[in-house]
Amino acid sequence: MNPPSTILVTGGAGFIGSHACVELLDHGYELIVVDDYSNSSSQVFARVERIAGRFVGTVYELDIRDRHALAAVFDRHSVDAVVHFAALKAVGESTRMPVEYYDTNVGGTTTLLRAMHEHGVHHLVFSSSCSLYGDGDGGPLGEDAVVGPGSPYAASKWACEQILADVCRRVPGFTVMALRYFNPVGAHPSGLLGEEPRGTPDNLMPCLAQVAVGRRERLHVFGDDWDTPDGTAVRDYLHVMDTVEAHRIALEHLGDGPGMHVYNLGVGQGSSVLEVVAAFQEACGRPIPYDIAPRRPGDVRERVADATAVARDWGWRPRRNLAGMCRDAWRFQQLNPSGHAGSARQTNRKRVTSCG
Ligand code: UD1
Repeated sequence: MNPPSTILVTGGAGFIGSHACVELLDHGYELIVVDDYSNSSSQVFARVERIAGRFVGTVYELDIRDRHALAAVFDRHSVDAVVHFAALKAVGESTRMPVEYYDTNVGGTTTLLRAMHEHGVHHLVFSSSCSLYGDGDGGPLGEDAVVGPGSPYAASKWACEQILADVCRRVPGFTVMALRYFNPVGAHPSGLLGEEPRGTPDNLMPCLAQVAVGRRERLHVFGDDWDTPDGTAVRDYLHVMDTVEAHRIALEHLGDGPGMHVYNLGVGQGSSVLEVVAAFQEACGRPIPYDIAPRRPGDVRERVADATAVARDWGWRPRRNLAGMCRDAWRFQQLNPSGHAGSARQTNRKRVTSCG
């Protein structure tokens, strides 16, 4: 199959989704975007268009669990493939709101699958997560590492993968690229796009940026009693620009053969929370006040990728390091102290706010 040309992007206003829109527009794809703005803002599309120099395409405000609204999108557009980002994604929050996580992440995915299937769309790039792996022995985790989801968020991603794998086994031609992200961070180098969660951020990098810019007093480091060199938890941080490049390459490989294909996306190197704090201090040139807080429910000690499979099969290798991730995240925070909302530039893009 030739690379698909019209892509439905779910969650396209979100952190990874908005960067993916730029990457796909830059490579000539036509986009249909859906988002419910539950953790994002429609303002982001003016910026996507400014960077890409093109209209983003038709944007629908809808919840992916809304079966009729989703079906109407597929009725109106000839979609070649779907990149599915829309999900709830905070590990700690998921332990307090498990039902919402299963409903949005699993229910949203099956609703999407149904709409795809009913409209003969059988190509999907799925946002999965390294959080579905068990704790392992501390080495880099390959795709065949033991699964052991430690939170409802992780379990929801694993449930989606199992459903998708089964559909691939039973529906001829169904092809899924499941990309298990380690920790995507950073921002577009222009400073126009970045991670801007609504309310108090859950993830480390936006918390650090908000402390550095003075929006929050201090960072809480969740646990210094892990069995790691400095006692803080270790993650494999990956620049969002490298992450979205992998999605574009995944689309190009959807024609390699039907079935479920699973790849880790990571750098292959771990950094502790305190190492990230130090790198961020270096990037922003100011001290980051922090205190040590109890471990966060659902957290794990260490997650580092063995990402050799994706390098071998697709030639994808991350090109940006932790210093670059912090530099870009800091640039975004500095240029947008109040987030994307500061950029209400109007465009004449076609915008549809509801389906019906
Ligand atoms: C998890 C998933 C990742 C997923 C992401 C989505 C794992 C291993 N990874 O990332 O695949 O893409 O959710 O949100 O589950 N921390 C602090 N203080 C803070 C915030 C975070 O110390 O204020 C620590 C956390 O305890 C953790 C590290 O920083 O050790 C990274 O946390 P975070 O950025 O939230 O990502 P994960 O939960 O690792």
